[in-house]
Amino acid sequence: MSIIDEIFKLKKERDAVILAHNYQRGEVQDIADYTGDSLGLSQKAVDIEAKVIVFCGVDFMAESAAVLNPDKTVLNPKPEAKCPMAEMITADALRAFKKEHPGAATVCYVNSSAAVKAESDICCTSSNSIKVVNSLEQDEVIFVPDYNLAMYTQRFTAKKIYPWNGFCPTHHQITAGDVLVSRMEHPGAEVVVHPECRQEVIDLADGVYSTDGMLKYAKTTDKDLIIGTEVGIIHRLKKENPGRNFYPVSGYVVCPNMKMITLETVRDSLRDMRTPISVPEDIRIKAKNALDKMLAAGRGEK
Ligand code: 13P
Ligand code: SF4
Repeated sequence: MSIIDEIFKLKKERDAVILAHNYQRGEVQDIADYTGDSLGLSQKAVDIEAKVIVFCGVDFMAESAAVLNPDKTVLNPKPEAKCPMAEMITADALRAFKKEHPGAATVCYVNSSAAVKAESDICCTSSNSIKVVNSLEQDEVIFVPDYNLAMYTQRFTAKKIYPWNGFCPTHHQITAGDVLVSRMEHPGAEVVVHPECRQEVIDLADGVYSTDGMLKYAKTTDKDLIIGTEVGIIHRLKKENPGRNFYPVSGYVVCPNMKMITLETVRDSLRDMRTPISVPEDIRIKAKNALDKMLAAGRGEK
């Protein structure tokens, strides 16, 4: 039996659904029931009727699905796949930051631990940070952990944002020079980038989108696109837009953590029911509150 047949057989036996982020390996995206961005995956996670969710992404994504679904078993095929940005802030550090800005609301990007979410008023993703911040009553907003997303969001709000100094090592290494060189190499192509990029990269882009936002935008234009985000998304872009060219803005925009999950780890996870995610109930309830408010806000990209 092929590994793909094994996965499908086990999936049926376990009553499981496979969710995969847009940065996963192409072969993992291809066996998933649903592939999407952070918001889409969280939305899907609350909609699922199956007993088991196998989450192919990085740890905070599987943890969020577990926070939202206390009655389901959420399996992370590779718990070692962590998001370095999420590890750049702790709940203790956020509590101290909040003391420096009494009266400010706290928005936390979903790329964070459940403990950090539990300390926050509301979560956001790259697809709704502007909408979330502008929905708040307070005029001052603490925004953790991504500095670049905070600064991009600041462009579209009159509120004062206090950013944390976290960053995504994969997106932060994209330079303005990469954009300029790729424009020269691919004249006529448009540049779309993720809001986790540096501000000078965002300034040079034609569009700034979450990963699902990029997929949606690609369908509205005939142009070739230079992609300023993790290269895994190019699999879906090519599949959904045959005959079009999608060029990575540079050769090194790879998130090594997103690539840790393979067909073998998905198969083993279903076979051995590992690794189930559990979150302490007091933290889970508070983190769910912040995630529920984000889900109620929905999408909102510029
Ligand atoms: P999206 O929500 O846009 O898919 O981004 C998630 C992420 O981790 C970006 O690095
Ligand atoms: Fe985290 Fe960056 Fe990887 Fe996204 S691409 S999961 S922010 S390290």
